[in-house]
Amino acid sequence: MIIANWKSNGGLMMIQDWTSDFINSCSPKDFYVGIAPPVIYISDFSLLEWDLDTLKEKSNNKIWDINIGAQDIDHLSGSRTGTVSIRMFEEFGIDFAIIGHSERREFFNEDNDLIKQKIIALNNSNIKTKILCIGETKEENDKGITKDILKNQLEVVDAMELENFIIAYEPVWAIGSGLTPHPKDINEIHKYIKDVVQSNSANKLIPKVLYGGSVTDKNAESFFKEEFVDGALVGGASLDGKTFANIVNIYNSTK
Ligand code: PGA
Repeated sequence: MIIANWKSNGGLMMIQDWTSDFINSCSPKDFYVGIAPPVIYISDFSLLEWDLDTLKEKSNNKIWDINIGAQDIDHLSGSRTGTVSIRMFEEFGIDFAIIGHSERREFFNEDNDLIKQKIIALNNSNIKTKILCIGETKEENDKGITKDILKNQLEVVDAMELENFIIAYEPVWAIGSGLTPHPKDINEIHKYIKDVVQSNSANKLIPKVLYGGSVTDKNAESFFKEEFVDGALVGGASLDGKTFANIVNIYNSTK
């Protein structure tokens, strides 16, 4: 599973270039690929879907559609200036939603209580795939309390029935910094995350765990080779269609 998170980047021209670069570079695949553009551009991705249909024909239908997702959702609606409600995303046929990104936690003061409300709302929606981001800061990493921090962030799923529920492990210090943990350390943390979710969720789900934080087409293979890395959540490197396609291709040939 490979997901692009464009954050607050992009533009109409860029979407066209990105689409043709992605299509020209992406090899046939049969796993989940998604893109979360800024909300205002979601409808422009109908263009992309059209192009991908053409590509599908070219590759004997081996290429699955690219899934379009939300970078975040508002679990409520009504008098909430500036937000986009989960119902609106549902109406658009959005396939996945990212929640709990560290930028939401840091810049918009989102805490476990709010993130839990979002998970409950998503569980009652037609949005199939939910991606919960968790990760420790540099300071927490230096103190050696990464697992405690992750366990606390994962309390939001305690006793819940989870379906199509994915975790993205994104160390805050690795996001946009060019720094990453060692692949072996990522693997160990992913195993830990799977164990915690399995023992705490009501239906004992073993979730897919994606790695996020400075993933590029240069380092992706080193992560994908690890047993418990089930894909990537890609920020900066997803803004270039060719680079993102390369990452998808690397996953295709490594897993
Ligand atoms: P990055 O961002 O790939 O630019 O480090 C990842 C993320 O924040 O999801």
